[in-house]
Amino acid sequence: MPEETHGTFYEAMGGAETIRRIVEAFYPKVQAHPLLGPLFPEDIRPVMEKQYMFLSQFFGGPPLYSERYGHPMMRARHLPFPITKERAEAWLGCMKQALEETGMEPSLRDAVLERLRGPAYHFVNS
Ligand code: HEM
Repeated sequence: MPEETHGTFYEAMGGAETIRRIVEAFYPKVQAHPLLGPLFPEDIRPVMEKQYMFLSQFFGGPPLYSERYGHPMMRARHLPFPITKERAEAWLGCMKQALEETGMEPSLRDAVLERLRGPAYHFVNS
């Protein structure tokens, strides 16, 4: 593992393989959710790939997203979509289930979820 990922969430979570598994578990739940599914394109693969790249860097791994797409500006990138508080909660709920499915230790899982809670509510725009 590269030096610069030592002591990061990324490393504690299990690196690229775990992030991949989280994303794979997460999007089927998002697509099936009545409040979230309609916002997403039928072909979810490109979104999954972007999320894999973003979460890798968000948790302290390699900056895959920025290398490809530039500054994340995530709130701005979400502005075209009507994100309500209910949708933020639904998103976090799907993520909680996805993290559970990866078998992540509960204390780490809660810490990961806590890191995502801020951005999720910050993206509320409707
Ligand atoms: C708060 C509830 C959220 C909703 C309803 C939501 C919804 C969406 C939607 C509809 C897209 C666009 C899909 C497309 O390409 O058509 C998207 C993209 C994305 N979302 Fe979210 N999102 C939420 C929270 C988050 C959070 C908390 C993160 C990460 C911290 C995140 C990361 C991303 C990324 C990385 C993309 C791809 C951006 C790109 O196009 O480059 N989202 N989201």
